[in-house]
Amino acid sequence: MVHIDTILNGVKYLNYCHALNNHSIPVNFKLGVATASYQIEGGWNEDGKGENLWDWYTHTYPEKIRNNSTGDVACDSYHKWKEDVELLKNLGVNHYRMSISWSRVLPNGTINNINQKGLDYYLNIFKALKENNIEPVVTLYHWDLPIYMHELGGWYNPLISDYFADYARLCFQTFGKYVQTWITLNEPQSTCHGGYAEGGIAPGYKHIGEGLYQCAYVHLLAHAKAFHIYDQEFRKEQKGRISIVIDFPWAEPASGNDSDLYAAQMERDFVLGIYANPIYLGNWPDSVISMVEQRSYLEGFSKSRLPVLTQEEIIFINGTSDFFSLNTYSTNYISLQNAVNESIGEPSYYLDKGTLASFDPAWPSEVSWIRSVPWGFRKLLKYVYEHFNYPEIFVTENGWADLNGRLNDTERISYISEYLSALLEAYYEDGVNVIGYTVWSFIDNFEWANGYTQKLGLVQVDFESNNRTRTPKDSYRWYQKVIANRCLIDKCV
Ligand code: BGC
Repeated sequence: MVHIDTILNGVKYLNYCHALNNHSIPVNFKLGVATASYQIEGGWNEDGKGENLWDWYTHTYPEKIRNNSTGDVACDSYHKWKEDVELLKNLGVNHYRMSISWSRVLPNGTINNINQKGLDYYLNIFKALKENNIEPVVTLYHWDLPIYMHELGGWYNPLISDYFADYARLCFQTFGKYVQTWITLNEPQSTCHGGYAEGGIAPGYKHIGEGLYQCAYVHLLAHAKAFHIYDQEFRKEQKGRISIVIDFPWAEPASGNDSDLYAAQMERDFVLGIYANPIYLGNWPDSVISMVEQRSYLEGFSKSRLPVLTQEEIIFINGTSDFFSLNTYSTNYISLQNAVNESIGEPSYYLDKGTLASFDPAWPSEVSWIRSVPWGFRKLLKYVYEHFNYPEIFVTENGWADLNGRLNDTERISYISEYLSALLEAYYEDGVNVIGYTVWSFIDNFEWANGYTQKLGLVQVDFESNNRTRTPKDSYRWYQKVIANRCLIDKCV
């Protein structure tokens, strides 16, 4: 074990000592960075792009976004993509995870009206990435639903899954020559919880009894349809791989008591399992099926608030992934809040789950939702690997937020180095087959309801300047060295 403060170029990156292991990062292991269309592109109404959910939400409810910010210009990557590719090239990443804006290529979301300028924008980026040997990892949907799709019912309406399937086919046809790794949907857990139950992100619904479950159901259908289209129509020729991003902060029992052990498993089933079980194991978790059903009857419903998957749907959704795409930032301690027959009253996802989250105030943190707990990351990797039938795991987001976007971002380097160190322990010591790691984010960007107040980038963006000037932070140079050396310390074994 070597201390990180001996690291790289004699620059001392940490003000406290943390041990990093001396495992080398395997040669084929992918190291990259991520962004998403609405968060960086801007050009919200340019060249034929249609309005999307976040355009509408930020324009209609400015008070719901910190400082009334919007993504109208964001990082202006719609115009500055060449500079972005140059920065990616200098960083030396193996892959770049980015997303396509559905309404930029299909203004209404429907296949009868294709915007060639939108397709060209992405084609140009993919060509430039190819020239620079950077593998694109492409998300078809990262929360910017065409507004017409939302008006038709959005993620409550199964019809959306058919429109999504058409859009997915167009993307495979048009971009498949350049793209070998596809992600259908980003973080349905965050979308369905934040957008349809808790209400903190677009469309801002607080339907805590039914919303999340119906949203999860439509996401699973949309994902599975896109997967089967790729599998049947494109895989043979394009030889790529496809998955869905699933997000989860590790759930650690608050104590060794049976009730907390039970609660932690309920948390895993209700937050991770709702999305992952149908894809990796078939059907929703048993605990979720029986809990929501029992509570629904006690509440006076005539059937479960959780949609029942038909046998046909279970088969259709099961097995629709080539690897496990995992986003994670933090860990929570979990304890029991209420049991199955307690607190019957308001139908609620939270009461169905029956858990309470807490944290150790000693865990380093600068924003409430990210606390640095590398051992939780290692446990999460092991759990996902063993619980979901040993899939290859690709970490498609992980990173650290600060509040001022400082260039001397020591804490980001600590967080990422310690998480990578934990990942290497999961790989070498626990035998978990992790194949890649992706920093969120490549550049500071529009952080949804937090606007521009939380910064996660390796590159600072000056949102005050018309030029949206980009300046690499210390973490950019640190990551550049890690990618080149395949090692977190001076010398690896
Ligand atoms: C999302 C990103 C977001 C990041 C940090 C993830 O949940 O996929 O879009 O910016 O968290 O807030």
